[in-house]
Amino acid sequence: MIQKPKGTYDVNGEKGRKILYLEKLLAALMENYHYQYVRTPLFESSELFHRGVGETTDIVSKETYDFIDRGNRNMTLRPEGTAGVVRSYIENKMYGDVIQPVKTWYYGPMYRYERPQSGRFREFYQFGVEVFGTNDPLMDAEVISIPVNFYRLLGLKGIKVNINSLGDQESRLRYREALIEYFKPHLESLCNDCKERFLKNPLRILDCKVDSEKEIMKHAPKMQDYLNEESKQHFEKVKEYLEAMQIEYSVNPNLVRGLDYYTYTVFEVEASVEGFGSQNVLCGGGRYNHLVETIGGPSTPGVGFAMGMERLLTALEFENINPVEENVLDAYIVPLSEEVKKEALSLTNALRLSGFTVEIDTLNRSMKSNFKTSERMHARYVIIIGEDEVKENILTVKENQTKEEYKVALADIIDFLDQTMIHDECDCEECDGTCHHEK
Ligand code: HAM
Repeated sequence: MIQKPKGTYDVNGEKGRKILYLEKLLAALMENYHYQYVRTPLFESSELFHRGVGETTDIVSKETYDFIDRGNRNMTLRPEGTAGVVRSYIENKMYGDVIQPVKTWYYGPMYRYERPQSGRFREFYQFGVEVFGTNDPLMDAEVISIPVNFYRLLGLKGIKVNINSLGDQESRLRYREALIEYFKPHLESLCNDCKERFLKNPLRILDCKVDSEKEIMKHAPKMQDYLNEESKQHFEKVKEYLEAMQIEYSVNPNLVRGLDYYTYTVFEVEASVEGFGSQNVLCGGGRYNHLVETIGGPSTPGVGFAMGMERLLTALEFENINPVEENVLDAYIVPLSEEVKKEALSLTNALRLSGFTVEIDTLNRSMKSNFKTSERMHARYVIIIGEDEVKENILTVKENQTKEEYKVALADIIDFLDQTMIHDECDCEECDGTCHHEK
């Protein structure tokens, strides 16, 4: 049997409903935040990621899905969304848009050739935002508030916000030199990856999972001591704005993030519940004030973040939260014979067009089996259509929960179902009498 590629997964059933629901919720949240939806291709020229994400990052140096297309071009399946959105911002000259800053959101699959494990896939879905054209620390705080508010809305409790500042380029350079100076005599005690990082991007030694517990890490110079006045103030403001929104955070001086493009603020939100597993970073992001320029656009500050949908689903399961309501069918239609199928289908169609959720039997089940099926599907009503019903234009409607049976004129069926909606919404003891139930 042909199987799915390693590190990928299929979606169906309840999981599909949950994902669709979360996507809808995210789109609605982005309306509230006044962000515009953008979509960029799943593949881009390889050069974009080499230039944008950085040669020294794991995702570009070890994990890209590269291919040469039939026109001999080097292409790469996007490992993340930021570089593509920046490319699109530049190509579409969005720096000239009337409305500034340009606030965008995106959603879609990303590809990284990683070692698959729980919470880590080779194809995974990210929701993310990128904001261009403002260096105001308020925007850093706004961006951090998006995942935090989303998790709050969903009822997730076990989350922790970690922030840090990498400062501007000048501060970062001074810090880089201090780190080189510090780690140079200790190189032998570091893991092989860190030895490589030492040459290419010494900051990344700080977030090494292998070396993190070593004594030498604990005494490494701290970024905070190398921030210049302007960078310090920027960071202070971000913290004040987070506090203004009652967003709790911890400053983690070793948080540098795995991508090369960050300046000033960086942040991650992690699932802090015990037993969650090692892939507990639900989302991450930060400011990147030189990326637009690096990719060939005008000097423009930017800030953004991305969250993985898979880890979000795991976090929800872990905290026993099912955000989706039970799937309820308003009506389950049973045509009693071949001859009445046209009428049954016509009714099904009319009800669906009126906004009801309707299913129709296409397996010619027995009556008993149809009732069983309708209960499994949580149908409120079973509507039976036989030759008598068609002749008299009267439908037999059975309510699954109460087992009551009604005779409803075909012309009145929409009203009948509408009234039950009212019945559902009202508190029956004070019902205004529009519902048909016995009280
Ligand atoms: P990232 O930290 O590489 O940042 O990824 C963001 C999130 O995507 C992670 O926190 C995680 O939830 C999810 N994720 C990453 N890799 C995997 C994987 N292999 N399997 C499942 N989930 C994964 C970025 O991608 C940046 N572009 C974020 C950003 C946007 N920074 C500024 N703007």
